[in-house]
Amino acid sequence: MDYPDLRMRRLRRTETLRRMVRETVLTPDDFIYPLFVREGKGVRNPIASMPGQFQLSVDETVKAAREAWGLGVPAVILFGIPDHKDAVGSGAYAADGIVQRAVQALKSALPELCVITDVCLCEYTDHGHCGVIENGDVANDATVELLAREAVSHAVAGADIVAPSDMMDGRIAALRCALDDDGFDQIPVMAYAAKFASSFYGPFRDAAESPPQFGDRRSYQMDAANGDEAVREVELDIREGADMVMVKPALPYLDVIRRVKDTFGYPTAAYNVSGEYAMVHAMDKLGWGDGRGLMMESLVSIKRAGADMILTYFAPEAARVLGE
Ligand code: PBG
Repeated sequence: MDYPDLRMRRLRRTETLRRMVRETVLTPDDFIYPLFVREGKGVRNPIASMPGQFQLSVDETVKAAREAWGLGVPAVILFGIPDHKDAVGSGAYAADGIVQRAVQALKSALPELCVITDVCLCEYTDHGHCGVIENGDVANDATVELLAREAVSHAVAGADIVAPSDMMDGRIAALRCALDDDGFDQIPVMAYAAKFASSFYGPFRDAAESPPQFGDRRSYQMDAANGDEAVREVELDIREGADMVMVKPALPYLDVIRRVKDTFGYPTAAYNVSGEYAMVHAMDKLGWGDGRGLMMESLVSIKRAGADMILTYFAPEAARVLGE
């Protein structure tokens, strides 16, 4: 059948019809809410480049997570902002580190909430790179050992899932092995498997106070041009034992999300990163677009591309819209 017998507009005529033929449906179950935890009490420092997002002390982190949980969001992912940074990021794997304490507080206040921890060194190193530096570059194998320690310390604190975001080679196997050795064989690893060196991380580096003090992250994060390599990265992480894989950022890499989902059929997460969030707010603020529409369209597109889980700063706001 062809036009004029076939008319595609017939099924778009009313909102009810559109609801009936809608292919992709978002739910709050899809969302993981990123939170930035810092020292102190009653602290809610607004993040200038991420309107509506804050650096939170542990008590305020619990409040924010409780609100998100109440709206149906099942999970949070934690980023730590320690008071003291050093060359080897020792705050990252300290038993009483900021993330470790936040995990304990969240699990005692909200035992059913899924608490995911970002496993990386960049927020904890004084040079801002995601590992230890040797000869002017991040040393892979020495870094992997520290990441494994960090992941175990998060599991000891009660984390439900650990999510390494460093892009070192061999870190998934190392984390899996260290977790198993310490009795955490039931703790899944969510691998930031295809993480691109992206200009869309700009606001995050403000939020987490973690910009690299020299150079950039291109010797470990991926080149934006490479889709085949992204598939290889994901394959390696799966072979090393990843339970879930992630593509990051989300919107500029929807093709990669689709390829990863189709190729492996693994639980696939996509990170709707800080710059994607800031862009929506900037357009809304300038009067160049409707923030709510931009938000919901971004999220449904990421799901349509194949994401099972979306890490997004919009989590509570979008969950509220979905609940209306
Ligand atoms: C840490 C990390 C980053 C993000 C998540 N984990 C920053 C980076 O790699 O520079 C970015 C998240 C965002 O932009 O929202 N390695």
